[in-house]
Amino acid sequence: MSQSIDHLASEEARQFAPSPDFAATAIAGAELYEAAARDREGFWADQSRELLTWAKPFTQVLDWSNPPFAKWFDDGELNVAYNCLDRHVEAGLGDRVAFHFEGEPGDTRTITYASLTEEVKRVANVLSGWGIERGDRVAIYMPMIPEAITAVLAVARLGAAHSVVFGGFSSDSLRSRIDDAGAKLVITADGGYRKGRATALKPAVDQALADRGSGEQASVERVLVVRRTGQDVDWNDERDVWWHDVVPQASAEHTAESFPAENPLFILYTSGTTGNPKGILHTSGGYLTQAAFTHKNIFDLHPETDVYWCTADIGWITGHSYAVYGPLANGATQVLYEGTPEHPEPGRWWDIIEKYGVSIFYTAPTAVRSFMKQGREIPQKRDLSSLRLLGSVGEPINPEAWMWFRDVIGAGVTPIVDTWWQTETGAIMISALPGVTTLKPGSAQVPQPGIAIDVVDDKGEPVGNDAGGLLVATEPWPSMLRGIWGDPERFVDTYWKMFADKGFYFAGDGARRDEDGDIWLLGRVDDVMNVSGHRLSTAEIESALVAHEATAEAAVVGASDEMTGEAVVAFVILKESFLKQHGAEGLAEQLRLWVGQQIGPIARPRDVFIVSELPKTRSGKIMRRLLRDVAEGREVGDTQTLADTMVMSTIAKQVK
Ligand code: WTA
Repeated sequence: MSQSIDHLASEEARQFAPSPDFAATAIAGAELYEAAARDREGFWADQSRELLTWAKPFTQVLDWSNPPFAKWFDDGELNVAYNCLDRHVEAGLGDRVAFHFEGEPGDTRTITYASLTEEVKRVANVLSGWGIERGDRVAIYMPMIPEAITAVLAVARLGAAHSVVFGGFSSDSLRSRIDDAGAKLVITADGGYRKGRATALKPAVDQALADRGSGEQASVERVLVVRRTGQDVDWNDERDVWWHDVVPQASAEHTAESFPAENPLFILYTSGTTGNPKGILHTSGGYLTQAAFTHKNIFDLHPETDVYWCTADIGWITGHSYAVYGPLANGATQVLYEGTPEHPEPGRWWDIIEKYGVSIFYTAPTAVRSFMKQGREIPQKRDLSSLRLLGSVGEPINPEAWMWFRDVIGAGVTPIVDTWWQTETGAIMISALPGVTTLKPGSAQVPQPGIAIDVVDDKGEPVGNDAGGLLVATEPWPSMLRGIWGDPERFVDTYWKMFADKGFYFAGDGARRDEDGDIWLLGRVDDVMNVSGHRLSTAEIESALVAHEATAEAAVVGASDEMTGEAVVAFVILKESFLKQHGAEGLAEQLRLWVGQQIGPIARPRDVFIVSELPKTRSGKIMRRLLRDVAEGREVGDTQTLADTMVMSTIAKQVK
């Protein structure tokens, strides 16, 4: 970690003040900070009233009488989908484009606010005809096609909660998420297009709902299926319904009922430090307030003229807050793209930016690094002059990648907002404001107006400037998670126990303040890895490895990787009995693929090393720090606390 601090510190010389042109028309000014500093809760109340339409106005702002269980705007009522749709149509903006959709094969659709509203109403009617209502959960397992957005909004419109499961996850992952949430309905597609191929989704749903042990019953009553690719699918007549058989026929009249501000809006599963993923719970009024506020101010959204594109999949929190709720609440025009950046050739994203005149572009450092590797000639062949603001999310952006992004994609002038936040925070917490903040490549910089963030030591004392420590939120915020689905104890233990006496939220990230007080993120301090901006838990992958018949024991570490930020590296001890019978030939590759099947391709280890021992302390804890040294090809650090100090040299030999 000290190495990266030194490296980052040398970047502090490079600074970019907002250009006068940009500042002159910028949505957000310094007065936002002043207002929030005068009266934090009053500030959020004002923002919420200004940005959202409340069916029943709230009179309370924050109820923190039972920490860490917060309530925001508790006595108010609203309908989230109405805020994203109907009210824009009622305001005469029905013809505005909500989405320019581009499928990977090149098919396109233009979806206006009026047509999206109508479609959501139809789907809401179908769902409510099946008895879906407030209090229910609906799982969504879809490619990035317009129906995915429609599905999400239709569920929200009925006051039910959605649980979107990333389409790249395996049937096992889908099953555990369906079961944990007790979903009544699954919305899916036959498949989607990725890398030039039709990939299948429906079979994973079938499998997730099938072969259960005796007595085990799925909560799911129906599966609604969009036909995207036309591939053959198995069909269960009692359970499965084609979207095209019921949605077009449904009525386009549907009045949005209002629900309490704290009504659950969605559950989204994310990796934690222990094996099974946590269902992060978000509710309605506070979440939508902060999603809309940050989207408008950090991305400097001028909804009449901007074309905004967030490349995140709807299966991640970024897709929820910045491809659905924030932008739609603000009446933005967006691009929605189904496929991968390399298909049919590496310039596809730049073609899309040129074609639709994208002006605001929000993506991940891992993507920027892969474009750097392909070379600047590819984007330089396209006209990217419509771009005026770039954003980054998911992991620290290396200063070199930041500079490349600005120079090559942003013509050397666009501001870049590096946005720090988490599934748990619901919306952006730390970022520059583009017309206000002097930018520093590599730093996420400053807490947003109304957000209280600090860097503290392990006793919770602020470290001050020019020092490193742990990142915390010192006050509740509107879009904060309200809990972990079905597990209030784990919620308290994971986030609030570490600084219980101070009442701070512990984010799990290390950070440092520079001499100006700007915040630099230093990565996770727990057993969570960040691979291409996606969170993976070491424990979850270890469990998958040990579930294989050949494996006796496994340890997983995140090793730094030029492309993906971190990469999964596994050390596996095989069972004697298995070795005797089958040998170890080809097993490392088999285990890699096995993890991909168990969890999803993103979890597939970069390397699997078969070893005879693992480094353990006398109390039996695996010392991952030492394995990380091996995985990164470094000299192995201090081994004194190991039960057997020779283990590391044995492992080092076996890895070579
Ligand atoms: C990391 C994604 C540095 C961080 C929105 C956090 C970042 C985790 C940044 C959350 C950033 C996210 N700079 N690190 N701008 N953004 N992270 O829940 O470690 O998928 O805790 O949410 O990603 O990942 P999650």
